[in-house]
Amino acid sequence: MAKATIISIASSISSAVKYIGPVSLSTVGPGEREITLEEVLWHDTRKDCWMIIYDRVYDITEFLDEHPGGVDLLLEYAGRDATVAFRGSGHSTTALKLLERYMIGELPVNERIFRKNGGFKLSDIPE
Ligand code: HEM
Repeated sequence: MAKATIISIASSISSAVKYIGPVSLSTVGPGEREITLEEVLWHDTRKDCWMIIYDRVYDITEFLDEHPGGVDLLLEYAGRDATVAFRGSGHSTTALKLLERYMIGELPVNERIFRKNGGFKLSDIPE
């Protein structure tokens, strides 16, 4: 096959395939998505910021500029687990409640720390 033909086939394939990320997602419950740690890692910028707190995944992109503690603190945990930081900075129940608005899914059971059999138990972990 001629080189030009191969290049033309390759470019039509690559423009037809839409890249949707490194990991396929599966549904874990009504309205909830199972999202792996690896997938969360891909969302680590100011324009696309996900975060894990208590094994749940939050898309906080829209919240960044509203955070009373500032945007920079949040960006340190972009794409990562922020449970200890969130807990350690003494957030109110209002802040916990606010999280619900941004939840987009949960970690698979084998990647969780708290919400699994034999996981860490905290007295004030949200339901
Ligand atoms: C998406 C997750 C988060 C939400 C929804 C959130 C929400 C809030 C809210 C509502 C407040 C006002 C005080 C309160 O009601 O507790 C606050 C303050 C604060 N947050 Fe967060 N926060 C989040 C993540 C974090 C993280 C990861 C850190 C990292 C250390 C952090 C550090 C702080 C600090 C230091 C304050 C105090 C600011 C001050 O009093 O001047 N927050 N946050």
